Amino acid sequence: MSSSFGEDLEKSTSEASLAHTRALSEKIEAAIKRDPSEFRVLTGDRPTGNLHIGHYFGSLKNRVRLQKAGVETWIVIADYQVITDRDGVGPLKERVYSLLTDYLAVGIDPERAVIFPHSQIPELNELMLPFLSLVTDAELRRNPTVKSELDATGNRPMSGLMLTYPVHQTADILFCKANLVPVGKDQLPHLEQARVIADRFEARYGHPSGSEEPVFARPQALLSEAASVLGLDGTKMSKSRGNTVELKMSADETAKRIKKAVTDSERFITFDPENRPEVSNLVQIAAMCQGRDPYEVAAEIGNGGGGTLKNVVTESLNETLAPIRARRSELEKDPQFLTDVLRCGIEAARERAAATLDEVHTSMNMNY
Ligand code: TRP
Repeated sequence: MSSSFGEDLEKSTSEASLAHTRALSEKIEAAIKRDPSEFRVLTGDRPTGNLHIGHYFGSLKNRVRLQKAGVETWIVIADYQVITDRDGVGPLKERVYSLLTDYLAVGIDPERAVIFPHSQIPELNELMLPFLSLVTDAELRRNPTVKSELDATGNRPMSGLMLTYPVHQTADILFCKANLVPVGKDQLPHLEQARVIADRFEARYGHPSGSEEPVFARPQALLSEAASVLGLDGTKMSKSRGNTVELKMSADETAKRIKKAVTDSERFITFDPENRPEVSNLVQIAAMCQGRDPYEVAAEIGNGGGGTLKNVVTESLNETLAPIRARRSELEKDPQFLTDVLRCGIEAARERAAATLDEVHTSMNMNY
């Protein structure tokens, strides 16, 4: 076990380690091209609201790409994580179904993916107990992502669940022995925590019967190369700020949102994220939709000014989202199909979780 309890977590956000993770991500991409069957992806989201274009460009597109490349895909709907930073659960059931509908609408293939809410997998949740024995409170308190999420809640006191949710997330990843987690930078401390737990489990409880295979795979982060998208007012994109375009919005609602987007007083459109964050963000959104270079898109608009920019963004977004929205409304007409997808996912996840928990019990001499 590491003597520098916790230091690994802080290291994971440093520039050097970010560069390391980026380099590793490139190697992993090459390995996926050679043999996708070496990898199992686990990703997920909290069902806190409708998915928006930030999610689409930042992660959903990448998940679909990995699945199409032949990588086995598991997706957790992290319903227990909803109550880490708020008191009520909100319209949770509707949100779980909305999230599932979004996944299928963007192109996740339900035949080949396991999609499940973690609340329905008791054997996964039970892994929290041995895993909690492998971390200290000091280490948990240092997690920079937990700290900033707590800060974002105002003066909310730290709940036990908030403090320990990275351990719960570790159970999400390790129960199915996923070795690849496509994430943004903010999730890197959690991935580091998951690796630390996998290693410590091995050191403390591993192979009692002389088996050589470690119980848990060490999961690696796959950093998304996509540029991140800001909200339409230039701040962080979030549903509560009303600065997003949700996947399920209509073309008209999209146009209205873009019309209200913040630009600046300079007429000539350029792509200059540092000095013109709001305008550049809109250019970026159009460029991502068109699969083109943002400098080129900006140069083309040039003297057309903010009005033309907004028209281009609206059209590009509506064109990109049209097939997704069409699939979404088809899916909404068939709630039974959605329930069946979830049932199948829960069944497959439970089967896997029960097998893993069995191994854990065996390692820990708990099979009576
Ligand atoms: N914490 C993630 C988020 O807020 C959601 C999540 C839960 C997750 N469990 C996970 C992501 C496991 C990747 C792997 O977005």
